[in-house]
Amino acid sequence: MTNSAAVLADAAAYAAAVEEASQAAAAYYATGESTLDDDAYDRLARGIAAYEADHPDEIHESSPTGKVAGGAAVGDVPHTVPMLSLDNVFSAEQFATWTASLERRIGRPVAAWSVEPKLDGLAVAARYREGRLERLITRGDGTAGEDVSHAAPAVVGLPERLDAPVTIEVRGEILMTNEQFEQGNAIRTEHGGAPFANPRNGAAGTLRAKDRAYRVETTFFAYGALPLAGSGELSATLTELPHSELLAYVAGLGVHTAAATEVAPLRVTTVEEVQARVEEIGALRAALPFGIDGIVIKADLAADRREAGSGTRAPRWAIAYKLPAVEKITRLLSVEWNVGRTGIIAPRAVLEPVEIDGSTVGYATLHNPADITRRDLRLGDQVMVYKAGDIIPRIEAPVAHLRTGDETPIEFPASCPQCGSEIDTSEQRWRCTRGRNCRLVASVSYAAGRDQLDIEGLGATRVVQLVDAGLVKDFADLFTLEREQLLALDRMGETSTDNLLAAIATARSRPLSRVFCALGVRGTGRSMSRRIARYFATMDHIVAADAESLQRVDGIGKEKATAVVAELAELAPLIEKLVRAGVTMTEPGATPPPEPGTEEEGDGGGTGAELPLAGMKVVVTGAMTGALEKLSRNQMNELIERAGGKSSSSVSARTSLLVAGEKAGSKRTKAEELGIRIAAPEEFAELIAEFLPGAAGEAVAVVAAVEVVEVTEVVEPVGGAAAVPAAEVAEVAEVVEV
Ligand code: IVH
Repeated sequence: MTNSAAVLADAAAYAAAVEEASQAAAAYYATGESTLDDDAYDRLARGIAAYEADHPDEIHESSPTGKVAGGAAVGDVPHTVPMLSLDNVFSAEQFATWTASLERRIGRPVAAWSVEPKLDGLAVAARYREGRLERLITRGDGTAGEDVSHAAPAVVGLPERLDAPVTIEVRGEILMTNEQFEQGNAIRTEHGGAPFANPRNGAAGTLRAKDRAYRVETTFFAYGALPLAGSGELSATLTELPHSELLAYVAGLGVHTAAATEVAPLRVTTVEEVQARVEEIGALRAALPFGIDGIVIKADLAADRREAGSGTRAPRWAIAYKLPAVEKITRLLSVEWNVGRTGIIAPRAVLEPVEIDGSTVGYATLHNPADITRRDLRLGDQVMVYKAGDIIPRIEAPVAHLRTGDETPIEFPASCPQCGSEIDTSEQRWRCTRGRNCRLVASVSYAAGRDQLDIEGLGATRVVQLVDAGLVKDFADLFTLEREQLLALDRMGETSTDNLLAAIATARSRPLSRVFCALGVRGTGRSMSRRIARYFATMDHIVAADAESLQRVDGIGKEKATAVVAELAELAPLIEKLVRAGVTMTEPGATPPPEPGTEEEGDGGGTGAELPLAGMKVVVTGAMTGALEKLSRNQMNELIERAGGKSSSSVSARTSLLVAGEKAGSKRTKAEELGIRIAAPEEFAELIAEFLPGAAGEAVAVVAAVEVVEVTEVVEPVGGAAAVPAAEVAEVAEVVEV
């Protein structure tokens, strides 16, 4: 987090800084695109403010410090009450200083605070008359905005009619969720348009666009409301309600607020609680389905707000606690072309290293060649780079007006950079014509990995040996390896060979979700594979599914469904080979979905109400103990989903149950605050006892799978175990271990 200010030595430096800040602000409010990243703008604005504090008689009229929004005047619809901006703080100390000055001003401690996300979109005012949406207006310069009512029907969360016939102005932010951004860009590029640089830019462009041939959705989040002429008795209520209750009232009218999100506004009473929530929201930021650039803290009580009052630019009763910027401008040095596990050739940008959100970013994804062309990226360009938390950094757009003319075109490869074969360029994502075979070692190693088939002892070096010896041409070949073949390899003694064969035999009875994940279908990782396996219950059903039925699986949209169907067709010979090798093709406990049209379609296998976690969203935190002690998080998630629940990694108002083990931290605190049911690992183990490894139902499912390969001894191992070969002993063990 940076909180330094640009140092402006003299009047000339001040004038130049005002000019630069004004240009950046004008561009930002006009199109959502800025010539400066947020950090750079904030530094400049603070430098300007510091200079003005020392030279109050030299303040320039276009200085951003005096402006309501710092932006260009767009539109001619006057706001009834100015749409103000917010002052910023960047640290706990600055927040404490601000609180102290506010409390000095009102002469008493602030009674309560509302802590809410600072949504990264555009401010709008929605005027409702007798319950009907009359006008939607942008903030513009804060005193007058643009009428964008034409855009309202495509704004999710902003109903055309309220649930009560009231006259009210609801204020809030319009943004694009990450999903809307992806969808919007897909539709736009299908229509030959350039992709939006980022969600904020997408929301700004979409709001202003008229007569588009396609529909792009955005989302509204209300963060305030005020009376209008004609509000009648409601006027007094709106001005007197605590802010937290005002938001609840607005939500009750059917308008969307952040209440149902993980960063829901929280009412607290102490500065320590505010700080704790700020940190919590900061930690949740990367995983949120929409962008936030800070936290807004507001005095909750109307009396506190009234007595604090407002300046010309910002209210004194609210402050924006800015989070570290997740966008920075840096230079694009070169582009590398890497071949992935499935043969996809992906461009990667090499950047002049830049510090973003606490880490140094030197690389960013570039999606595909068409994307490079559409964005008109060139080597040497200054580019806007985005990174939030663990998310892989991506290039949003070149900052075209910073070009010097020395930039050069990016060259695309003419043949596969891995093996020299031809490239299939018929799709947006280029692919080596050898497909998975181009990176055979990587795809077999992936299939053998811990979260897929979990074949112990099959590291990358072994896979290289097997591939080089011609024994493995895909991962199904692992299941037909013979002892003699393995013994003939370097450094493969009898013990290693038998252990590896035993591990492979164990892998044969992994549940369908693992086997499906091992296929490495693009876009289907661990949790998506589990959802697909639970929904369809058998590989036959998955393979027979068309794009439409795949979309019934939670999280699969049209585009992904089509891609999965195409890839499964390509993988059909491999799947056949796995079936012949006796690999499990069913998901224990799941039942296939009914045939479309025959009876009411459910949501796939095994999610019936009879399951102990049916309809529940479960979060696991802390160290597991007792029967759950040895399970990885992935295995815990598998267990939750087998028992009918949904697993999630973060606590929100929608969480049904928190399984809290030893050393559970902030998730537990949050669950307590939200009144969510908390279970110790032992209590949870009891709840889902029948699904635990080794439970009767599990054993039957696994034994049934073992029977497919006709190893009938395993059902009666007692007393005869010594006579059962190692591979089958492993299968017996599997009955207990899965
Ligand atoms: S309160 C007078 N609450 O941030 C109070 N603003 O940088 C001003 N914003 O203009 C609005 N999330 O566009 C408020 N929860 C939130 C907000 C929020 C985002 C935006 C809003 C405002 C800007 C100031």
